Amino acid sequence: MDKVVLAYSGGLDTSVAIKWIKDKYSMDVITLTVDIGNVADLEAIRQKALKLGAIKAFVIDAREPFVNSFVFPALKANAIYEGQYPLASALGRPLIAQLLVETAKKENAVAVAHGCTGKGNDQVRFDVSVAALAPKLRIIAPAREWNMTREQTIEYAQSHNIPIPITVASPYSIDENLWGRSIECGVLEDPWTEPPDDVFIWTKSPNEAPDKADYITIGFDEGIPISIDGQRLSGVALTQQVHEIASRHGVGRIDHVENRLVGIKSREIYEAPAATVLTKAHQALEAITLSKDQLRFNNIVASQYADLIYNGLWFSGLRQDLACYVDSSQKYVTGEVKVKLYKGNCHIAGRKSPYSLYDYSLATYDKGDAFDKSASPGFIHIWGLPVRTQSQIQPRAQRR
Ligand code: ARG
Repeated sequence: MDKVVLAYSGGLDTSVAIKWIKDKYSMDVITLTVDIGNVADLEAIRQKALKLGAIKAFVIDAREPFVNSFVFPALKANAIYEGQYPLASALGRPLIAQLLVETAKKENAVAVAHGCTGKGNDQVRFDVSVAALAPKLRIIAPAREWNMTREQTIEYAQSHNIPIPITVASPYSIDENLWGRSIECGVLEDPWTEPPDDVFIWTKSPNEAPDKADYITIGFDEGIPISIDGQRLSGVALTQQVHEIASRHGVGRIDHVENRLVGIKSREIYEAPAATVLTKAHQALEAITLSKDQLRFNNIVASQYADLIYNGLWFSGLRQDLACYVDSSQKYVTGEVKVKLYKGNCHIAGRKSPYSLYDYSLATYDKGDAFDKSASPGFIHIWGLPVRTQSQIQPRAQRR
């Protein structure tokens, strides 16, 4: 029988998919569960896949490659979609797609499969990433094909003895990894409704956050966070530590009405404590180590980069080209940022770098001022020349 590798989360849709693919396509199903920092019991998921009829069930711990090859490149670029969403799910999909393709090659499978519906961004990210890496590999998306409502999917599961996960009782649709957690559906679909407390699992309500602020100092090397309070940490450990302390202070709650690639607006809530703190700290370090022109240009790149990630184009040539630009721009983004966490907020308390362009003797108003003020009138004379000329020839009063 032909084989297919299914990205398996252990949830309702992908559990039903194991049986559905076997029946509909007469294929042997191999499951692949990728750990990118979601909290589930991986061995239980593996066992469940085998019990539901998978011929093999793989679990891959991909947290290090996720952080080092996807999350940190995005952080270096300050890639935040529409100024709000740190792209956690969007960064995870190309990596899962890559592992699906690798597993399919190793196992001689003719197809890969995922549990996305036909309405979201994730289907695009999976399909385009797989197509980029293995153009000939077939892609099966059962939940996009089977046309079952949620109730029908539950009935299908019941009639085939597929255990229904407790998460099915939740009114929300949730996706999470170590860069963030997204929550949609239920009452959140009314953008006027404030998210109820039960939406937030990671972050403390700012109301209940400690009355005393915490400070942490994050060290960066060429744009990559490498230490907390002077202690060197791996990317995963560092992200987890920032996550813990920021969550405790209620930092990283995001309410975003976003523009999906498939043309609809959707209201999504995110919890992204580590992403919020690290992005802010990174930007604070860039503010002292990059020139004004570099900062302005980086902003343009950041928004392009974020769109590419969101729109499923991680493996595109342009994304790779931008990554080269970003790496070059980070050459001197090395130093430390002191961050204050307090009642849902993340403040920058201090920043320093051996490459800081901030020059005290130029900035100060105290003694030691080295700024040559006598050069200012000449500078202003030339700077204002076009405005003076224009207002003489085209009197301002006559313009609307
Ligand atoms: N709206 C976000 C995005 O498109 C989050 C998607 C979460 N995915 C999910 N299957 N619930 O990246």
